Amino acid sequence: MVGNPNLRIGLFDSGVGGLTVLRQIYHRMPNESVLYFADTARLPYGTRSSEEILGLVREILDWMSRQGVKMIIMACNTSSALALETVRQEYDIPILGLILPGARAAVQQGKRIGVIATPATASSNAYRQAIQEIDPTAKVWQVGCPEFVMLIESNQIYTPYTKQVAQSYLQPLLDRKIDSLIYGCTHYRHLEAVFHSILPTSVNIVDPAEYIAIAAEQELELMGLKNNGRALPTRFCVSGSPRKFARLSQQWLGCVPPVEKIYLREPSNFSITLNPQPLDN
Ligand code: DGL
Repeated sequence: MVGNPNLRIGLFDSGVGGLTVLRQIYHRMPNESVLYFADTARLPYGTRSSEEILGLVREILDWMSRQGVKMIIMACNTSSALALETVRQEYDIPILGLILPGARAAVQQGKRIGVIATPATASSNAYRQAIQEIDPTAKVWQVGCPEFVMLIESNQIYTPYTKQVAQSYLQPLLDRKIDSLIYGCTHYRHLEAVFHSILPTSVNIVDPAEYIAIAAEQELELMGLKNNGRALPTRFCVSGSPRKFARLSQQWLGCVPPVEKIYLREPSNFSITLNPQPLDN
């Protein structure tokens, strides 16, 4: 059912990266209810082939369509880079991706633009193409960062090793004297403190999560689909371990969320709910 302002916005990622987009949705559109899906059983996405990513995305979109959402936000750059154009033709729900909002914001901020992203997003050239379509004079360097997602998903955010890895991914961009840096993967904002300790203050950081939230708000407004009532609590669903997701995400959500384990291919009413439990240390 499309076209009902009371429906939720569907938002998905492979894991906790999408929480950086969720935060922006809460900030800009506090009245909107959200269905958050994390495909944690199958992460990382960024080292998979484009055919695999398209297949995973179609399964998620089919499941979300069955849940009844009014819009779907791909809170995953890898899916946005490799699957958005194809699936937009296949579903009659508005589907938003991160690349265009991110590229538009980046050209406002600089001319020498670095992109850190998953290997799949970096090699797709999606950001370079989108940026140079808007500003052909902009220079773009993209670095694939295969280790970041698993370091974040295993909560190794503040370790010396993570800082060392970040330094090695950023150095080639620093050597190019970038003036702005795009977080080309939604997970990376969780490493903000690490990046700030490495980057000179002259480098503008562009987080596409902020701009996709603006784009989503504009689109809902245009379609007359903004919710004017109160938001329902976010429904969190995962394909992997609900407990692991709840435990990891509490540092960004400020509470331990109730998380459901769902089976994308099962009928939509089949799920196991994990009630919020006090966490042992
Ligand atoms: N957070 C996602 C992205 O923005 C996916 C990361 C992954 O699973 O590799 O690309």
